[in-house]
Amino acid sequence: MVLGKQKLLTGLQPSGTLHIGNYFGALKPFIGLSAENESYLMVADYHALTSLKNPIELRSNILNVVKDYVAAGIDPEKSVIFQQSSVHEHTELAWIFQCLVTVPFLELSHAYKDKVAKGLEANAGLFAYPMLMAADILLYDTDIVPVGLDQRQHLEYAREAAAKFNNAFGTTFKEPKEKILESVATVPGTDGKKMSKSYGNTIPLFGTKDEIAKAVMSIVTDSTGDRPENVYAIHKVFKNDAELAPLYEANKGSYKALKEALIEDIETMIAPMRAKRDSVTDEDAKRIIEEGSDRARAVALAKMLAVRNAVGVAL
Ligand code: ADP
Ligand code: TRP
Repeated sequence: MVLGKQKLLTGLQPSGTLHIGNYFGALKPFIGLSAENESYLMVADYHALTSLKNPIELRSNILNVVKDYVAAGIDPEKSVIFQQSSVHEHTELAWIFQCLVTVPFLELSHAYKDKVAKGLEANAGLFAYPMLMAADILLYDTDIVPVGLDQRQHLEYAREAAAKFNNAFGTTFKEPKEKILESVATVPGTDGKKMSKSYGNTIPLFGTKDEIAKAVMSIVTDSTGDRPENVYAIHKVFKNDAELAPLYEANKGSYKALKEALIEDIETMIAPMRAKRDSVTDEDAKRIIEEGSDRARAVALAKMLAVRNAVGVAL
């Protein structure tokens, strides 16, 4: 059976510096599938606004994420790299979805509860976040969304938004599926918990070798047992058990040597990407995201014509 091209979309928030969890959880799986599919990679800047209220930082983060995408191996000619806020149809469709789902349904969001528990302001944007994400995905008739495990519930929300709309107004949206790679579903951070920008436990994707070394050296290890589990858990993202076994056998109890080996393995992967990243200027990044946003807008506009018709606002 010959399978047709599928539509692929994912997005990252420009809320800070990307880390290796973002790379293995979302970017690498996206790259793996993007060559043979129609692919969209979004900078989710309006999502970042739920937590980031600093225009200078946001502006620079947006361009940095574009550079990160290119450095990680995404070809802007083949994948559409675009800015959420410059395709206004995203916020428009999010509003329509918000009119279809209930407050108790949104209250079930783990991400919302976790963020508020961590001290983030419980603003209405953060609360409605899953409907903006549903709009991001559904506007493009997306089939597959490569993400880390923490985003699974957001995909359920997107399917529910599609189903609610289709029920109320006739079939308009496709129900998308998440693509979560089991081995890297949750890359652990330096403290053994999920690596996350907001936990201060990250290894930066494009840090200098010194920054990476500092992060790796700070991995929390306990002094019981032969194997430093938190080091091993991160190392496993780079090499498999068979490759790691002799190294960990030869360096039993020598945590420093194992951390140094991990630094070298991270460096081997990152050094070429870092060099590529340095060659992308702010102007390049701006041009890429503007051209990509024009391409994305054409698709989103066409979909919204159908949506406006279906709900009855098109006269
Ligand atoms: P963070 O938690 O650092 O703020 P984001 O929420 O911006 O990260 O996540 C962007 C993408 O990276 C999402 O698809 C998310 O699932 C993925 N991701 C984030 N952290 C990890 C991790 N530790 N392991 C695997 N995937 C991750
Ligand atoms: N919520 C995602 C995160 O925090 C980012 C995101 C926004 C996204 N819109 C999306 C991911 C659409 C995939 C598809 O990581």
